[in-house]
This record gives sequence, C-alpha cells and structure tokens, in this order.
Amino acid sequence: MYRDPVPSLEPQPLHAATVAMRPLRVGMIGIGTVGAGTFRVLARNQTLIAGRAGRGIKMVVVCARSLARAMSVVGKDVALTNDPMQVATHPDVDVLVEAAGGTGPAREWVLAAIRAGKHVVTANKALLAVHGNEIFAAARQHGVVVAYEGAVAVSIPIVKALREGLTANRIEWVAGIINGTTNFILSKMRDEGVGFAEALAQAQALGYAEADPTFDIEGIDAAHKISLLAANAFGMPVRFADAQVEGITALQGLDVACAEQLGFRIKLLGVAKRRTGSGADGVELRVQPALVPATHLMAHVDGSMNAVMVKGDASGVTMYYGAGAGSEQTASAVIADLVDVARLDGTRAAQRVPHLGFHADAVNEGLAVLPRAAVHTRHYLRVPVHSAQQIEAVGAWLAAQHVPVLQVALAAEKSLPSGSHTQVLVLTDAVAQATVDLAVFALAAHPAVAGPVVTLRVELLEG
Ligand SMILES: NC(=O)c1ccc[n+]([C@@H]2O[C@H](COP(=O)([O-])OP(=O)(O)OC[C@H]3O[C@@H](n4cnc5c(N)ncnc54)[C@H](OP(=O)(O)O)[C@@H]3O)[C@@H](O)[C@H]2O)c1
Repeated sequence: MYRDPVPSLEPQPLHAATVAMRPLRVGMIGIGTVGAGTFRVLARNQTLIAGRAGRGIKMVVVCARSLARAMSVVGKDVALTNDPMQVATHPDVDVLVEAAGGTGPAREWVLAAIRAGKHVVTANKALLAVHGNEIFAAARQHGVVVAYEGAVAVSIPIVKALREGLTANRIEWVAGIINGTTNFILSKMRDEGVGFAEALAQAQALGYAEADPTFDIEGIDAAHKISLLAANAFGMPVRFADAQVEGITALQGLDVACAEQLGFRIKLLGVAKRRTGSGADGVELRVQPALVPATHLMAHVDGSMNAVMVKGDASGVTMYYGAGAGSEQTASAVIADLVDVARLDGTRAAQRVPHLGFHADAVNEGLAVLPRAAVHTRHYLRVPVHSAQQIEAVGAWLAAQHVPVLQVALAAEKSLPSGSHTQVLVLTDAVAQATVDLAVFALAAHPAVAGPVVTLRVELLEG
C-alpha cells in the first residue's frame, strides 16, 4: 500500500538564495530576562527562523552594565559595550532591540537609533505608552519600523491580530487580563481566601511580583498595554495619560467572596470600548478590578496567565490566551518582530503594516477618551447596614436614585469577618458612572448605612 513519506520534523537546509542574503544585524541594549531569552531562542532556532525570515538574524553587539555577565550569556562572538548609544548608532547594526526598560534613557536611545536609520524592536510598554506618539512619528519621518509585539501580553500575538488579522472589522471593544502579577494575586485571594497583602507577599516570594510592584498592583502596567491596544483598535493616538486607572490594592477579600456568592469572579481588566450615540462619542479607556461571570472563559484565566478578547463587527468575539511574562515567552514576540523587520527591510514605508494599525492620515487625532462619569457598565455594590431588615430599604432607595437595580441579596454569614456589619449586595443593570457615584455619595448619609459603600464594575464580556 502506498504511504506518503513521513515529513521530517527538522527544518530543511536553507535555500542557497537565503544563505546568500546578508543577515539582519541586531544590536541589543540590556541582556536581562528578555535580552538573554532573545539571544537564547535566536541561537537555538536560528535555522528555522532564517527559513521564515528569508535570511539569517545575527546578534552583532550587546550593551550591558556588567560585561562579564553579558559574556557568560552571549559568548565571545558578539561585541560588548557599556555604552547604549554606541549600539543605537552602530554602523553595523540594522535593528536595535531595546531590552533594558524604563522611559528616560530608553527614549533617547530609541530616538537616536531611528535618526540613524535603524529599525527598533522593543517590549517596553511603559516607553511606548508614554512616548509612543513621538517615537512613531520619528520612525515615520525616517522610514523605519518600530515593532512592539512583546509589549502587550507577551506570548499572545495580539498586536498582530489587531493590526493584521482583524483589519476588516470595526472594533467595538477590547478587554483583557493583561497583567500576570495581579492575576496571580487575585487567583490566590480567591483560591486560598487570603487578603491582598498576603497574596502579594506570596507573589513576591515566588518571583511573580517585583520587589517594587507598584506598576503592577496599581494597574499602571495594564494601562500602558490597553492604551497601545486601543490605539490599534480604534485608529487613535496612544492616550495613556487619559486612561482611568484603578489597581487592586484596595480590593478586599470580602468582595472576592461576595462576588463568588453572586456567581462572579474578580479580575483586573483593561478595557477599551468605542462608544457612539447617547451624547457619548469617544473611547472608554480604563483599568479596574471588575466582576466577570464565573461561567465565562475569562473567569478561568488563572495564575499569571493573560487573555485578551476583541469584539469586531464582522468577526464577532475572538479570544486569545497565553503567558503574560517570561524570558523565552517575551523572546518569542521580540523575535517575531525581528522576522518582520527582516522581511520588510528595504520595502517602502507605505507597503508596511503601520505602527498603530492605521496609516498616519487615517488616525483620528480628535478621538477622545471619555471621562469617568460617562463610563457605562453594570455595577456591584456592597452596602454595610445596621440590620438585615434594611435590605429592602437599600434596594428601593437606589432605584429611586435612578440606579437600575437587578438583584439585591445579603452577604452569606460565612463570608463576613467576625464583628462585621450585615452587608447588602446589589447588582445593577448598565448605568452611567455619574449616576452610581451620586447615589453612593448620597447613600453614605442614609440612616440604614453603617459604613463605606464599595462599588465595582461588572463586565459581562458578551458579543
Ligand atoms: N520580563 C518579562 O517577562 C517582560 C515581559 C514583557 C515585557 N518586558 C519588558 O522588557 C524590558 C526588559 O525587561 P526585563 O525583564 O528583561 O528586565 P531585566 O531583567 O531587569 O533586564 C534589563 C537589563 O537591562 C540592563 N540595563 C538597564 N539599563 C542599562 C544601561 N543603561 N546600560 C546597559 N544595560 C542596561 C540591566 O542591567 P543591570 O542588570 O546591570 O541593571 C538588565 O540586565 C522592560 O521594558 C520590560 O517591561 C519584560
């Protein structure tokens, strides 16, 4: 009987034309977690990568503070320097990989490389969230690529999905768990019933959180990323400075338990939503801990994993899942960008995928981020009261304040810390944040209420 020959799993030897092409020459600043992973994967998979890129990709110079440590990673065949600017402007470098981080010196290096006609690859979301508009404009002016797939949800090719796979669509919203540290902490709080401080300490002990975790736990890192995704989704500049950002530091274990009781889990979500009509024309751009239905796939993204959902008018809802951090996981994205650069180098800028998904003349400079008051979502409220009889009064009072109440319940006794007041839990239909804020402000003075009212958003993440 005839059988097809079993294909080899090994990459085939490179075609002579591929071998003959000059390799793409890389200079890298920083050889820490991301830099070392990039070097390792490039070396391990070089034949396969060259087969895809159509030419080799070769590390020629690396900048590090400790040259001895750098040499232990890259060996003797790669030039080493302490001077980042030397790499950024090196005559033998075609593309700069900025893998050092930060927003000050990194901006100088990247702009110097662009001015010297080098392409740039970076996973530095802070840099692009803060200086991206300036950097992309400079790159356009000098006809070079700035690629940043590793900057958002590292191993998930979400920038590529938005810029290429979903180009037919009017994107309605993007939402995701895009910070692994906070997702790890929230998973611990839920699974082990521990408070925020203890979950953070565990995350630090296990290496899931930095010694200074501020950017993660305050939601800033997620805001960097959702600002980049919003720009790609809606054809707007990067508007990180306008994002509404709330982290998880104030989140109480009691709310994690009460959310469970109502059939939800709390996740730190980055959300970018295009809104038109009803007097609101703009984009909701926000990061906040939100209740997600426990039956939803997003509620089951646990530990340090990331997931992103995109709703397009034609595609419907699509969802992407993968590691949100890690040395080789980020390298996977950085090298994908290098392969793109290797393929695109020498083409006219107009033929390339635009930096933020839209060509410059199609970017809507006037598309604004909507103010907090205009954000329109469902809500969860937890209202401490003096007695269980006051449950009806709270529901009726909120309804009278134009808050569309869907459900009112008492928090289960077993969830309450000893000595706690009775807690009334409220779920609302979609309503403007301004209405909720006013109602909660007034509720504080209601005689039935025994303490501060907690409010969180509820995201159904439906098509
Ligand atoms: N780690 C991840 O999973 C991940 C995921 C996505 C994106 N990123 C982003 O990738 C970037 C790098 O992160 P990382 O985790 O690789 O950081 P890292 O492990 O701290 O590595 C950064 C490296 O850059 C070096 N460096 C910093 N300033 C330098 C300078 N002026 N000259 C020479 N070397 C310098 C550091 O040297 P010293 O050791 O001497 O300080 C360090 O080796 C950041 O923007 C980060 O946000 C990281």
